[in-house]
Amino acid sequence: MSPQPDIRRGRAQDLPAVLALLEAARLPTADIVSINEPQIWVLEKRGAIVGAVALECFGREALLRSLVIAPEYRKRGLGRELVACVENAARTDHISQLVLLTETAEHFFRSLGYGVLDRQQVSAGLQQSAEFRSLCPVSAICLSKTIAAALS
Ligand SMILES: CC(C)(COP(=O)(O)OP(=O)(O)OC[C@H]1O[C@@H](n2cnc3c(N)ncnc32)[C@H](O)[C@@H]1OP(=O)(O)O)[C@@H](O)C(=O)NCCC(=O)NCCS
Repeated sequence: MSPQPDIRRGRAQDLPAVLALLEAARLPTADIVSINEPQIWVLEKRGAIVGAVALECFGREALLRSLVIAPEYRKRGLGRELVACVENAARTDHISQLVLLTETAEHFFRSLGYGVLDRQQVSAGLQQSAEFRSLCPVSAICLSKTIAAALS
């Protein structure tokens, strides 16, 4: 897939727009400021942030979280492009497994190669993340994908 020129690393000044998108989509925001700034990616269209995704890394595992596309930009393949971007970044960082919790996008992630993972199989470190501990309801499904290492 060719690089998506509208996707870039998030900066501190992007945070209010990212939080607004997450709040509108009813996704957790309580802990987002504690994630390292470079681990957020944003999608920009016409000078406005219309999408975001974040990675929280725990050794060779990472929590893929806060994926959101503004409603008026959905169903155009942009969500898929954000996921591809974050998967590439994870490979470069030698992450071998991506894990996520979702109540709303199971089918979307399954179409991208993610499969159900028993929460008990998630590493202790990742289970300590705020999403696992308290922010996502127990009804949220846990999905994961093993990603190949980047060629060096
Ligand atoms: C999930 C989300 C990011 C997908 O973004 P998007 O830009 O609409 O997705 P894409 O256009 O790349 O969709 C790729 C495919 O998945 C499908 N799809 C997208 N969202 C879906 C959903 N929620 N349920 C089922 N299928 C979905 C699309 O129809 C498309 O299928 P196709 O290739 O057969 O046409 C977006 O719907 C969103 O922001 N939802 C609210 C927040 C959310 O639920 N985030 C996930 C938190 S884990």
